[in-house]
Amino acid sequence: MSIDASPAALLADQPQAGAWLVDAVGYEIYIRSFRDSTGNGVGDLDGITSQIDYLETLGVDLLWITPFYTSPMADFGYDVADYCAIEPIFGNLDDFDRLLDAAHAANMRVIVDIVPNHSSTEHIWFRESASSRHAVRRDFYHWRDPGPDGGPPNNWVSYFGGPAWTLHPETGQYYLHLFLPEQADLNWGNPAVIEAFDEVLRFWLDRGIDGFRIDVAQALVKDQALRSNPQIAPWDPTGSRWEQWDAFDHQFDILQPSSVDIFARWRRIVDEYDAVLVGETYVLEPQQLAHLVRTDGLNAGFWFAPMHMEWDPQAIKTALQGPSQALAKQTQVGWVAASHDEQRPPTRFGGGDLGRRRSLMLATLLMSLPGTPFLYQGEELGLEDGVVPPDAQADPVGSGASLSRDGCRTPMPWQPGPGLGFTTSPTTWLPFGGRSDQDTAAVQVNDEDSWFHRYRTLIKVRRMHPELRGLGVEWPERADDVLAIRRDTLLVLANAGDGAPTAEVGGEIVFSTHGRTGVLQATDVLAPAEAVIIRSTD
Ligand code: NOJ
Repeated sequence: MSIDASPAALLADQPQAGAWLVDAVGYEIYIRSFRDSTGNGVGDLDGITSQIDYLETLGVDLLWITPFYTSPMADFGYDVADYCAIEPIFGNLDDFDRLLDAAHAANMRVIVDIVPNHSSTEHIWFRESASSRHAVRRDFYHWRDPGPDGGPPNNWVSYFGGPAWTLHPETGQYYLHLFLPEQADLNWGNPAVIEAFDEVLRFWLDRGIDGFRIDVAQALVKDQALRSNPQIAPWDPTGSRWEQWDAFDHQFDILQPSSVDIFARWRRIVDEYDAVLVGETYVLEPQQLAHLVRTDGLNAGFWFAPMHMEWDPQAIKTALQGPSQALAKQTQVGWVAASHDEQRPPTRFGGGDLGRRRSLMLATLLMSLPGTPFLYQGEELGLEDGVVPPDAQADPVGSGASLSRDGCRTPMPWQPGPGLGFTTSPTTWLPFGGRSDQDTAAVQVNDEDSWFHRYRTLIKVRRMHPELRGLGVEWPERADDVLAIRRDTLLVLANAGDGAPTAEVGGEIVFSTHGRTGVLQATDVLAPAEAVIIRSTD
């Protein structure tokens, strides 16, 4: 063997597995609401396949599809009863294979959602586990005797509010669930669980998928002794789910050191397939993200601060700078402003056209940073939350605008007319929520001045300018509310305030949220929520 044939030298010549992720633009498909091909009012796999052309026109090249596995749907698919089978309402494995082929033929990759923190209580593992205290699979889940007062074994609360424990009268013990009682937490301290999931991963990788979005990646492993969390505020079981969660310092239920060992194990598996792991790393401190995202584990972790920040120039800057300051590799972040769990950005950022302009401004900043930006279906149409009347609410986590996730989950409006091109059914699982013709994809695709075309152009600009994806981000200081990001010879300017500051720097316009073309002059005034990417001349 020659000296040059060292493993490092060999590796240097080969692209790293999963390296493609840093150049991708992702798109989240919430399957129930994307497109219904069967006329039952619920979206499905064939419905996605039928819209691949649309996604190609938009320019995204990485699809994340939310869970489509066998499920009693207590949490609309995030309660999985069989990780390797498809819920009939969404189709079957042949439909899945066709979707994968169609996406690959259009040069799009597909990642599927894996839900390892918990399974449905209808899963055979849980049913066996619950059958007796001595069941072979008892340790697949967390079972504990009642506390001294007969209540739950510790003070943990569910992300959805209320205690994280439910008593199982038949065996006299409590089981743990960080979400609904129908979503029992798996015991990742049990090697048999680890091995069972290796097989699930390989089942989907062998079918040709390109990776996984990992649900609740911050919480897989629990404190071995299941110690109570320190309480830092009064806990009011009638308070909102976030108030309840924030009453505790989550030292023992989430972010345990060895979760990342699971991801390192999975990374070795997905690397064999050139596939990736994108963690739903639901934390708001950059250091917590850095703990979860190591170079030998998750390829990237979603960063949620942009979903939780106020519309305030400094808050936006802090939210966007967090990951690059904390992560060893700046590209290991998944940028998300929207998802099936949060109010849509235009609604969050003031509603109407102001909300839409702000959302596009934010998207411009996110598309200009290292990492992988993801859009959520309908974001490209500038959709606000749909209006869901109380009697049509479906989300198990509660009612009310600030709690229910229904508003961001209403069906995609594809075209004007009955069923909005989503379905032929007179009823849908959630109402459309008050969409106008102008909201629909068909109208916007045919209108060069639409939100769709602005997002499409933005994606194209990111693709055409590797400077926007590479490392090295500078934030030139400004005395006003303009956020400035320098990316090599490109400069992004975004007016996050309500005033009318001048650009202060001029240059050839590469992208403009407001349809400017040609050259931006240093004396030009930036409108509120206007963003521009220029090749600066100074
Ligand atoms: C995060 C998912 O995005 C959300 O929809 C779900 O309810 C929880 N994880 C629990 O699986």
